[in-house]
Amino acid sequence: MVRSRRFDVRRIDVNKRVMTGSESEEPKLRRAVCPGSFDPITNGHLDIIARASKLYDVVHVAVMINQSKQGLFTVDERIDLIRRATAEYGNVEVESFHGLLVDFCKQRDIPAIVKGLRAVSDFDYELQMAQMNNGLSGVETLFVPTNPTYSFLSSSLVKEVAAWGGDVAHLVPPFVLEALTERLKNKQ
Ligand code: PNS
Repeated sequence: MVRSRRFDVRRIDVNKRVMTGSESEEPKLRRAVCPGSFDPITNGHLDIIARASKLYDVVHVAVMINQSKQGLFTVDERIDLIRRATAEYGNVEVESFHGLLVDFCKQRDIPAIVKGLRAVSDFDYELQMAQMNNGLSGVETLFVPTNPTYSFLSSSLVKEVAAWGGDVAHLVPPFVLEALTERLKNKQ
């Protein structure tokens, strides 16, 4: 008698989800977080988030709430701009957080932090944070080399140049430029 055999299939499907054991099991989504202040989001941030969104099932963008530092945009405004900028990726969730990043990760079962490295000067501090975060909770940090087009780019520089009337249209999405222009006009 020929018995039908059930194979224990372990495969990676084309949608990047890791399937283990029987097909009835829920696939475990691979998650990563891109943390930052995002005041406001720039094309440099977007480049890193876009690349992370191709590597992971879900990318959480975590906007840090810093009560001791007033930003140009409120946290809610930043979240709104990031949501608009990342809507087309389809697998990006945007939230705020305060406290430790590793706690944000633990609460959402996120094992990896993705960070862009613009230049060697970023490395010292990023390495310290990566080692601290790993020591605190085991969460890993993955460094992505920034696209050279954006290696000089930061939110602070964008704000400074825009405040003095410089052209930053190529450095931020159009609706961020609009919000920036409006906010700086109102501040003068
Ligand atoms: O865009 P930024 O301001 O460079 O982002 C810095 C950020 C938010 C990634 C970092 O300050 C952070 O992770 N803060 C959360 C508090 C925390 O976990 N501190 C310990 C880091 S080792």
